[in-house]
Amino acid sequence: MTDVEKRPAAGGARSDEVRNEAGRRRTFAVISHPDAGKSTLTEALALHAAAINTAGAVHGKAGRRGVTSDWMAMEKDRGISITSAVLKFDYDGHVLNLLDTPGHADFSEDTYRVLEAVDCAIMLLDSAKGLEPQTLKLFDVCRSRHVPVVTFVNKWDRPGREPLELLDEIEQRIGLRPTPLNWPVGIAGDFRGLIERTSGEYTAYTRQPGGAQKALEEVFKDPEEARKREGAAYDAAEEELALLTEIGAVVDMPSFLAGESSPVLFGAALPNFGVRRLLDAMCDLAPAPKPRADVEGDERPVEAPFSGLVFKVQANMDPAHRDRVAFVRVCSGRFERGMVLTHAATGRPFATKYAQAMFGQERETLETAFPGDVIGLVNATALRPGDTLYADQPVSYPPIPSFAPEHFAVVRCRDAGKYKQFRRGIDQLDTEGVVQVLSSDLRGDQAPVLAAVGPLQFDVVMHRLEHEFGAKSELAHLDYELARLTDEAGTEALKGARGAEVLTRRLDGALLALFADKWRLNAIKRDNPSLRLDPLLAGT
Ligand code: G4P
Repeated sequence: MTDVEKRPAAGGARSDEVRNEAGRRRTFAVISHPDAGKSTLTEALALHAAAINTAGAVHGKAGRRGVTSDWMAMEKDRGISITSAVLKFDYDGHVLNLLDTPGHADFSEDTYRVLEAVDCAIMLLDSAKGLEPQTLKLFDVCRSRHVPVVTFVNKWDRPGREPLELLDEIEQRIGLRPTPLNWPVGIAGDFRGLIERTSGEYTAYTRQPGGAQKALEEVFKDPEEARKREGAAYDAAEEELALLTEIGAVVDMPSFLAGESSPVLFGAALPNFGVRRLLDAMCDLAPAPKPRADVEGDERPVEAPFSGLVFKVQANMDPAHRDRVAFVRVCSGRFERGMVLTHAATGRPFATKYAQAMFGQERETLETAFPGDVIGLVNATALRPGDTLYADQPVSYPPIPSFAPEHFAVVRCRDAGKYKQFRRGIDQLDTEGVVQVLSSDLRGDQAPVLAAVGPLQFDVVMHRLEHEFGAKSELAHLDYELARLTDEAGTEALKGARGAEVLTRRLDGALLALFADKWRLNAIKRDNPSLRLDPLLAGT
């Protein structure tokens, strides 16, 4: 591609607009283990930002209605899942795009793919539990994609661990240097308030009777006043703070942006302690959308003509609507509904005229979007996760990697007469990235092995094979839990091994060695120390 083709569009005013709009955006996701409080925190963030009036809101899940019901209604209207896409809100002159990372039963490869579309992540920890398996996997992806991470230690209103012990765990287990922005006064379970490290300002929190409303906050600029109020708990916090300063645990932007250190905030999402501070931190610290490198490593400026990355494609499970929605992260330029884009993989035009396009509360956001925003394009049958769409100046972004599968099953067509449809379906679902398809000479083509990050992916495959391709199929789960990348020598060595098998991933030809469990893997490694058995991204 020539320099002329890559030059950003002329037209200063338009470039300025895009640069300004991009500069206001913060696009992030929450990475956490189920039950750490992601839904509660999401609601609390939106609550503060949108100043939703929660008078009368009740504790617990019912209290979430204020935010979630809007999503539900939109979901119904559009017949697609918005909950699993993005929540957009304005806060303090910024536009925040909070992308959902589905967890629990809907944890899937899409959960990881969302992290391709964010500029920052909030690592949410339960103060009693610290780092948990799903958080570790998601963190692994953030690290590999150089996504900076802000840590929020949640549930400080409940008995939990010592703050210094939690920081130590973060540093020791994942090598991320924690740099607290604020510090709790009072042990977990007897939370009094937070000291802001740079200003020394103390905010005391009082739980509001009734639950999930805004907490009562009282700010003390004078530390002596704060000490008088909190007594020994305040002294203990100050001692810990002195220790942190001594070891140099202070926020450091370059290492944060490089993914080496993480600003840490303490609080409790449910009673709304410290949530506003987290929002402020996201605005102050999280990076705005920046130039994205294309396949050749050249960066496309945010003010260049429109370009976007498809990070998720969702086929509607409802047979009445065969719609396929592609979620696109805007990487550069201004999107306007009706634009005709080019699909980089095929060179074909992609019309957005009838696209329902954008998700968010405001009507006008349906018409335009800027870098950092997410647009939803309907009827996106040709689009796959990792695809690039652009206007005017061609660009292709690097593909999204495959992630470590942990669930494996053999799929067979029930009706031999439908085998052709079955094969077409499997190929289609493979290229769409719905599931990874593995095969081997031993198993043959009739019964491929499906590999998934979460079992929901199998449900989607079975449903679509039957309803979209007319090939009702059956699934038999395999007793494997782990996959490692291997080579020809590994394939030879593992032939006939108990509790292990090597299969080829169809899409890229990678050789995946599957193991029944980590004991089996370790035993094989012990007996064959020279075998290549490399972990996959986000694997256990
Ligand atoms: P998730 O999306 O990460 O899975 O977690 P979710 O927000 O559903 O929270 C899991 C549980 O933890 C919920 O309790 C929620 O109320 C509670 N929780 C979240 N944040 C806090 C916090 O800061 N302090 C305390 N004390 N609890 C918190 P649940 O009993 O499962 O549901 P519910 O009936 O109470 O809503």
